[in-house]
Amino acid sequence: MVKLELFEVDHWILSRSSSTVKHNLAHSYCLPRSIGDLQRQTGDSDVGVEAFSPILSKALDYGPMKGSESLRSKISHWYSTESSGDLTIENIITTPGASLANFLVVFALLGPGDHVIVQYPTYQQLYSLPKSLGVDVSLWETKKSDDWKLDLEELRRLIQPNTKMLIISNPQNPTGRIIHKSTLEEIVKIAREHSMTIFSDEVYRPLFHSISKTDTEYPPSILSMGYENTVATSSLSKAYSFPGLRVGWVASHSSKAIDLCVNARSYALITASQIDEYLASLVLSPSLAQGLIERNCTLAKENLNVVQSFIDKNSSVCEWARPVGGPIGFIRFTRAGKPVDDLELCTALLEERGILLVPGRKCFGDGVKFSGYVRLGFGGKTEELKAALEDLQIFIQENYANVPLSTGS
Ligand SMILES: Cc1ncc(COP(=O)(O)O)c(C=O)c1O
Repeated sequence: MVKLELFEVDHWILSRSSSTVKHNLAHSYCLPRSIGDLQRQTGDSDVGVEAFSPILSKALDYGPMKGSESLRSKISHWYSTESSGDLTIENIITTPGASLANFLVVFALLGPGDHVIVQYPTYQQLYSLPKSLGVDVSLWETKKSDDWKLDLEELRRLIQPNTKMLIISNPQNPTGRIIHKSTLEEIVKIAREHSMTIFSDEVYRPLFHSISKTDTEYPPSILSMGYENTVATSSLSKAYSFPGLRVGWVASHSSKAIDLCVNARSYALITASQIDEYLASLVLSPSLAQGLIERNCTLAKENLNVVQSFIDKNSSVCEWARPVGGPIGFIRFTRAGKPVDDLELCTALLEERGILLVPGRKCFGDGVKFSGYVRLGFGGKTEELKAALEDLQIFIQENYANVPLSTGS
């Protein structure tokens, strides 16, 4: 039997999601939109509200084995405009969310005897899943004291003769930091030297709220770095505001990687929902997707400033490396310079003020590395974020002194 470790973030949210949650800051997506919103936007755009009609009369057979052609062509077009990648629809398969996309990549391309290097901290799926399949995993650790920057010399040190893959994510969960273009170029150079596949989880792309597209360091998709041995996953869940559509994808220039993922996809689902994929293809209509990303970037920027003001005001107890992409940040809470117990902090915050956050040590790694850290999602409505931070302020004044310090820190 495959032994899967507990998926800590989901387990935490599941076990704490109750009526006591007044302010949910544990989410990691931009303000979710409804089908009604989508309908209004198609009506207001060149897409036209009649674009909804074809799905009503479509006979719902299984549909194409690699996913809807219309959706895959929208994804391919989006790569070409958004990140100057050059992908045909044959380079793309759809999945229900990036979760399954990640699952297929790991399941299809790795196995016992392989070694992978995983940027860390990161989304647990990216290191626990390979581990459960008998893959040898090395964590490529980053620290807040270095602004969560990747150390390329350390990457070289971690490479072994059987290193098959390097797993990164850009923008990054939980820090909201990004890997700059020049670092990506260096990573590609190293991967090429060692014939390693680079697998980049780009689910928060293209929500780069704090770096301009004209900046020379603006990160392109890994797929547009001129290296065939790259695989990217993404979805409509985060930057595109439709987590409930459950539509994501795997994309790669390597037809071998895609073929292996298609085969694994057949084992997991045959095909995905044609209804979801149809709606997703409307979301990715160029004019709508562009507008959505611009609105979400504006919202994320405004909300980021709200969180930054809170952190500045409370700088004696909290700090972060300011996020650059994705609507999430990793905040470190301390007392007299020592990290507090983040699990106790999150538990007390929920009990006392109804604020749901994600404890870093529990959900992003073992031991004491992330003692005191909490992940905060700021992709929701500004007024709701302000109300949550007002309650957090009250907690800091009234209850924070009672939160125990982390032991072993
Ligand atoms: C880095 C990362 N990858 C993948 C996912 C899965 O996203 P979804 O399955 O909703 O597309 C998440 C969700 O939080 C994530 O943070």
